[in-house]
Amino acid sequence: MSETVLIRNASQLITMASHSKRPAVKTAMSDIGVIEGGSVLIENGCIVEAGEDRVLCEKYKSRLKKAKQIDAAGKLATPGLIDPHTHLVYAGTRENEYAMRLAGQSYMDIMQAGGGIHATTRATQKAGVEQLYEESKARLDQFLLHGVTTIEAKSGYGLTLEHEIKQLEVAHALADNHAVDIVSTFMGAHAIPYAEKDHPDRFVERVVNDMIPEVARRGLAVFNDVFCERGVFTPEQSLKILEAGKRHGLLPKIHADEIEPYQGAEVAAQVGAVSADHLLKASDAGISKMAEAGVIAVLLPGTAFFLMKEFADARKMRDAGVALALSTDANPGSSPTHSLPFMMNLGCLKMGMTPEEVLTAVTINAAHAVGAASKVGSIEPGKKADITIFNVPHYLMLSYQYGMNHVDTVVKNGNVCVE
Ligand code: NIG
Ligand code: FE
Repeated sequence: MSETVLIRNASQLITMASHSKRPAVKTAMSDIGVIEGGSVLIENGCIVEAGEDRVLCEKYKSRLKKAKQIDAAGKLATPGLIDPHTHLVYAGTRENEYAMRLAGQSYMDIMQAGGGIHATTRATQKAGVEQLYEESKARLDQFLLHGVTTIEAKSGYGLTLEHEIKQLEVAHALADNHAVDIVSTFMGAHAIPYAEKDHPDRFVERVVNDMIPEVARRGLAVFNDVFCERGVFTPEQSLKILEAGKRHGLLPKIHADEIEPYQGAEVAAQVGAVSADHLLKASDAGISKMAEAGVIAVLLPGTAFFLMKEFADARKMRDAGVALALSTDANPGSSPTHSLPFMMNLGCLKMGMTPEEVLTAVTINAAHAVGAASKVGSIEPGKKADITIFNVPHYLMLSYQYGMNHVDTVVKNGNVCVE
């Protein structure tokens, strides 16, 4: 059935048009496409045209008679936000470790003692599909309420073929039943199982020979990710795992240089990763290699905030010509949040990004980081009608006021799903 929807007269409509072909870098990130008094015509869930209200109403006079109208006067409309790095599917929480860290223990020490990712792995392995689905759905609801219409979701709390598949299948079930679109990433190489900590290469072989081929065969993931960090996977092991993924059609991503400089950015460039994520400690050489190879930096300021670390040097990356995206890294250990708008505040206040850059980083650049820029990330003809309306008149308000949720209405595929 054909349905016509008109979002009318937003005080500012941010289109992000013009960055769909490639992610915005450096000064181009300021080109966010502001239309004052902007409207969007939607048909059958897709964008027909965006423009000034007056112009659109005149041009489509006849079609608009039957249109459902959404009044956005005094409000801000942006492309639906995109979170390009989440650990959505898991069981349980780790507030006990939060208290341990506040008392002085480090994130890596807790993990090496069998907590951290291992604790969530135990809980996730134990959980049935239904429990995992319900806990993850509650989080996905929160993302949507904060204006997010597409997220990437990683496995990596199963660490056996059976339990990794369980996590990925839950992500697919959520994608089928929930308004938010999910792009799946296999992350069997999230940690070496605690019981096998002395035999890392044996586990790497299993990831490469058993898990990756089966996950790919079942079509359960688009991307393949690895936690490249001292004490977890070495740069050599990471390269091996990412190359294996490529042979099976899984595109590489990497958790790189989060805790210490460890050649993660360099591996990302060498393997041609779509993105390298974290990068708090990325080397200058690694950053320039990323720029040359066109690897997107997915920055996760919530993790630096929550682990009480120095923030990634976004300015340095931008000045080197690296495209920037922003994400929550939502997970129970290092970033328990579902607020992408809060990452925008942190991007500006703690990483030296401009308000225009953070908006670009959670829309079109995030779309590129999940391989979905031809369908989402900007308000352009032919793209999905995924649009978030905020109850503020100017885009500056989004990264200025913090700790608040300004979302007024979320439109997904042309349907109102939050109002
Ligand atoms: O991106 N760094 C590795 N993985 C996650 C944390 C996972 C966890 O602590 O449960 C991250 O920060
Ligand atoms: Fe992560």
